[in-house]
Amino acid sequence: MSASDHLPSPSVLAPLLQPLPLPFGKQLPCRMFPGPMDGITAGSFIKAMTLHGYAPLWHTPFLRISTGIPRRARLQAWLAPFLETKLPVIAQLMGVDEGKLAAAAEKLAAFPLQCIDLNCACPSPIVVRNGAGGARLQQPSWVANALKTMRKSLLRMPLSIKFRCGFQSPDEIPQLCDAVLEGRPDMVFCHFRTVQELYHPVPMEQALSRLREVRRRLDGIPLFGSGDLFTLKDIRRMVEETGVDGVCPARGLLTRPNLLLQTRRLAMGEPVDDRRAEREFLEFVADLARFSNPRASNSFLLRLAAGFYGRQNPFFLSLIDCRTVGNTLLRIQEALDVPQNLH
Ligand SMILES: Cc1cc2nc3c(=O)[nH]c(=O)nc-3n(C[C@H](O)[C@H](O)[C@H](O)COP(=O)(O)O)c2cc1C
Repeated sequence: MSASDHLPSPSVLAPLLQPLPLPFGKQLPCRMFPGPMDGITAGSFIKAMTLHGYAPLWHTPFLRISTGIPRRARLQAWLAPFLETKLPVIAQLMGVDEGKLAAAAEKLAAFPLQCIDLNCACPSPIVVRNGAGGARLQQPSWVANALKTMRKSLLRMPLSIKFRCGFQSPDEIPQLCDAVLEGRPDMVFCHFRTVQELYHPVPMEQALSRLREVRRRLDGIPLFGSGDLFTLKDIRRMVEETGVDGVCPARGLLTRPNLLLQTRRLAMGEPVDDRRAEREFLEFVADLARFSNPRASNSFLLRLAAGFYGRQNPFFLSLIDCRTVGNTLLRIQEALDVPQNLH
């Protein structure tokens, strides 16, 4: 199916273009931006997405606060790839010790950020075994306390939380929302799966009804929905059927890096031209390659190409043979130079 099939009407998407004012004079430029992806939202991906205008803001992946509080130089180095883009930045922390999280947040607040975010969502088995990320949802009172403790250390910086719809079951939503309300964050990010569901399929009706419940319970707090936002239609459906204020697609950007730009165009009533999709995709992947080590394995580029073309596609198969980033870039350039080879 092409991107232009079942295009949502511009009016449903228009609110996503609105800036979101936050306390202390901070502001998000709009209400849709890439969801953080640890291991992906880094180096070349950040650069290529920014260059192509595919990200209006960066929400960092988590910085794990475990034994000590990172020094300023370490925080500076961690934030540098995001701040260098000159786009607004939300910085995410993850940890178990409220005091350490608050101390780290205080240090982070010295940087030009729009918000500091607490990760209570990560389902990675290693993270959860260490009691961090999504594991924190097993103790809703911790969630409330952590937000309150972090807030005390933040003088003029908004605070947000990212959570999932339960650790074990969506029946935990009421308790978790009460804890979030008690912690009074300025903004909330919510992925509809539970931690134990990892990335397993959840029927969309159920997924959206969970987010609807979170929306109802967190009335008045800006809420961003996350989960399975792969197409314009997915974005439209989540906005329309749950009432979330914004959306943060993540994995969808790997197969369709321009998803948010397409959403913006459509919301502005501009045509969404599907015929340019392949060229835009290849130009993006070429820049991703240019920003990467040419001798490195092309596995990440292949992951993107597999999503876009499918694993049986002859062009995708020809990229497998390239093996390195440098060879893959040459192959993509060849394809871009001969437009009739593009669909
Ligand atoms: C590889 C990977 C790494 C992720 N890392 C983070 C992270 O560091 N912080 C976070 O809040 N969410 C993280 N997420 C979750 C995504 O931001 C998003 O909430 C989730 O993937 C569901 O959205 P999607 O179905 O559009 O991908 C990660 C997801 C993936 C796939």
